[in-house]
Amino acid sequence: MRLDIISIFPEYFAPLDVSLIGKARRTGLLDVHVHDLRSWTHDRHRTVDDTPYGGGPGMVMKPEPWGEALDAVAPPDGPAPRLVVPTPSGRPFTQAMAAEMAAEEHLLFACGRYEGIDSRVVAEAATRMPVSEVSLGDFVLAGGEVAVLVMVEAIGRLIPGVLGNAESVTDDSFAPGAMESLLEGPVYTKPPVWRDRAVPEILLSGNHGAIARWRRDQALRRTAQHRPELLGRLDPEKLDKHDRKV
Ligand code: ADE
Repeated sequence: MRLDIISIFPEYFAPLDVSLIGKARRTGLLDVHVHDLRSWTHDRHRTVDDTPYGGGPGMVMKPEPWGEALDAVAPPDGPAPRLVVPTPSGRPFTQAMAAEMAAEEHLLFACGRYEGIDSRVVAEAATRMPVSEVSLGDFVLAGGEVAVLVMVEAIGRLIPGVLGNAESVTDDSFAPGAMESLLEGPVYTKPPVWRDRAVPEILLSGNHGAIARWRRDQALRRTAQHRPELLGRLDPEKLDKHDRKV
């Protein structure tokens, strides 16, 4: 998969050389290109922002550098990537959205700063490529860079071959299938007793059916505690008699 990222702070993306994503780049599973938006400015100060029409606080990113940047990275006569624009006013980013994006061949991330990018940029881009305006949650970051790091990690680990064989995404919180709308329960490793706290005995039993049942119960309980609103989204068809008791 190819990823292009446009930002006024390319140095924000140094972590993409590290760990899973860094390895995926070195093995050729991910082809990441980070671009400095200011390379598409033409004035001495390399200006990327201006005051908002209609007044109000803060600055808005100018359309001209963004237009040139998108034309250069996604030429209008070439195959179109999906443009992903992180913004608190976007649609909520979910595991399902990460999985859809992991199936794309080419993603182009546009990192806004200040009060955002002049709205004509997304409107014009949408005439020639699919666009997703995406929010990480109900809070406001100083810019899209950290949001892109989060999304690239969530998307990257779903690309076949990026996670090792030993790791599996099917038991994750929110994973499609049995874990959809559920939070993953507690996990344990050796030693069996630590500071007088024993690992739940069932996990040492070797009874795989009972362990799966216990894990599902724990996931249901944790979801009820931390995210009760998710329980309403569980598919009633997929609930069994035991689920209803938990
Ligand atoms: N940019 C600023 N705040 C953001 C948020 N909550 N999600 C995604 N991008 C953002």
